Amino acid sequence: MAHPDSTLITHIGELVTNDDGDGTFAARNDAALVIAEGRVAWTGPAPQAPAADAVVDAGGRTILPGFVDSHAHLVFAGERSAEFAARMAGRPYQAGGILTTVQATRAAADDALRANLARLAGEMTRQGTTTLECKSGYGLTVADEARGLALAGEVTPEVTYLGAHVVPPEFAGDPAGYVDLVCGPMLAACAPHARWIDVFCETGAFGAEAAAAILAAGRAAGLGARIHANQLGPGPGIQVAAEAGAASADHCTYLTDADVDALVSARVVATLLPGAEFGTRHPYPDARRLLEAGVTVALATDCNPGSSYTSSMPFCIALAVRDMGMTTQEAVWSATAGGAAALRRDDVGHLGVGARADLILLDAPSHVYLAYRPGVPQIAAVWQAGRRVTGSSLRACGPRRPRGRRGWPPRRRCPDATRRPGSRRVRPARARRTGASRRPGPAASSCPPWSRSAGEPSRPSARRRCRWPRG
Ligand code: NIG
Ligand code: FE
Repeated sequence: MAHPDSTLITHIGELVTNDDGDGTFAARNDAALVIAEGRVAWTGPAPQAPAADAVVDAGGRTILPGFVDSHAHLVFAGERSAEFAARMAGRPYQAGGILTTVQATRAAADDALRANLARLAGEMTRQGTTTLECKSGYGLTVADEARGLALAGEVTPEVTYLGAHVVPPEFAGDPAGYVDLVCGPMLAACAPHARWIDVFCETGAFGAEAAAAILAAGRAAGLGARIHANQLGPGPGIQVAAEAGAASADHCTYLTDADVDALVSARVVATLLPGAEFGTRHPYPDARRLLEAGVTVALATDCNPGSSYTSSMPFCIALAVRDMGMTTQEAVWSATAGGAAALRRDDVGHLGVGARADLILLDAPSHVYLAYRPGVPQIAAVWQAGRRVTGSSLRACGPRRPRGRRGWPPRRRCPDATRRPGSRRVRPARARRTGASRRPGPAASSCPPWSRSAGEPSRPSARRRCRWPRG
């Protein structure tokens, strides 16, 4: 029985589900998945798939959960490419660079910040991110932090108050006064806009005592705790996280054995941000060590204009596999289910029945290609809560049942052709009428192999054209 408004995605070469419930990667081959009412309604072997209102042919490609980017700083103005160039020429990264962005952000109009935020959130979506966390932290006044959080809330519910990013210049002589502001009037103004509180616990930013006080104040105001810890050198951040009951400690680049033990026993997710090590030339965090110890590991972009100006989860997966000791399966799990764990979400990061239908069609036969083909755009389509949000220029191509074809690469078939049940491919109706050549023209040969988009009406007899999806 078809679900109302349901979509069957069939002929999936590899379906990554992460639904074994044991915190590890799970996938099946030659699979299908049904979306109904924005949720995953069924997954299983393609030949056993139930009927649905619409059918998408994955053409042997990969479906995986949308990425969960659990650490990003998207509310800012300006850029710092000169700083990046200087670092690549040998200068060290310093927390103080944040103040350059604070100045630009305070001076920016709401709409300029909104436009930049939308640009970066759009980049993320086109690269497969379906859940993103977004921090404030470039305002550092009561009004500017509250504004940043309100803007972040326009693009995601995972909003994090980071008034404790650095001490702003007007409090340079009174850092304790700034901590009081962060824990007092600024928190009162910001808590209604946020789900989380964060603090940059690092030399040059906030020490252990201040960080603990800030997280405690946030928790008392109903916010969950997370922390920037041990990014630029060894420090107390992980211990602060464990004592505060933080959901996640982020960066974890310089860890002692005691830090690793604390992450395990306090069940704090270690969110690794390889874009930051790429952008600062610090050593990459040792994911293998954390995994062997039993720590739950997440991967995220840390997208910000200073240390890590990437919005690409595939890039982070490639770095984690190449330079952090992760297998391809571990990296993909950490970029999906790991991010969900860092945000304490059980509805995203997996494709078990009942999960939010956030998924990626990868133009590749397996998840391995995310690291195997670094830097190559392979995200062919993205669904968010069951709605396709990229690849929207595709036109309806009529329902088709799975054909059972296997193999890679997929046949590049133009859907501008009719097909009778059980028949071989026939020439396009229009070509038969006009006597046009049997050979497909350029448009036909560039058509994607899937059939039609979720929610689009079935128009089996209409003339159809298709294009590669635009992001
Ligand atoms: O996570 N470490 C603190 N915050 C950011 C960097 C922000 C910036 O340099 O503007 C980070 O790397
Ligand atoms: Fe960060």
